[in-house]
Amino acid sequence: SRVAILVSGRGSNMAALIDAAAEPSFPAEIIGVISNRPSAGALAIAERAGVATTVVDHKAFPSREAFDDALHAELVRLAPDVVCFAGFMRLLTAGFIERWEGRMLNIHPALLPSFKGLDTHARALEAGVKLHGCTVHLVTAEMDAGPIVAQAAAPVLDGDDEPTLAARVLALEHRLYPRALAMWARGEARLAGGRVRTDGRDG
Ligand code: GRF
Repeated sequence: SRVAILVSGRGSNMAALIDAAAEPSFPAEIIGVISNRPSAGALAIAERAGVATTVVDHKAFPSREAFDDALHAELVRLAPDVVCFAGFMRLLTAGFIERWEGRMLNIHPALLPSFKGLDTHARALEAGVKLHGCTVHLVTAEMDAGPIVAQAAAPVLDGDDEPTLAARVLALEHRLYPRALAMWARGEARLAGGRVRTDGRDG
């Protein structure tokens, strides 16, 4: 599969995907990285890895629709089979989602459907949950609510604060996202009846 990655920031999940895809046996190829922020650290990491980058700066467009049209045009040019959101911090219009639905994966730093949205680690600590983690899911019009492809869990420990919990979950994210993308690319995870089926494989 041809994979495009959308980023906004640091790019550690993007780097995990690029590293995994560098293995000859990996079933997908990273064909390009698109950032909506010119200052995203992810851009330099991708360039160093020899992956083509583009910036579609949301600030350069007068409306959400205009930004989404430019992002869509860039994706049409890359022609990916899969679009991986990796710390991509823009909400997209229903029109954009419709055009790419079923082909977009996202990683979210919580065990969905708990803790949708931002500040997931602080909210997990506040709630006192003992188990936290991350989720790879299909992107649909409703934020962080698309069909779940794979999850990984980590314990919340008594001494945790936001940085320690975030670091534990981030390490899991870096293992989960490549694994979920590989399952998706091999057709081992696929949509059926509104849910992702993995045929008994570790989802
Ligand atoms: C990750 O925790 C991801 O789950 C969330 O935003 C963070 C991005 O980090 N959506 P990075 O840019 O991948 O390092």
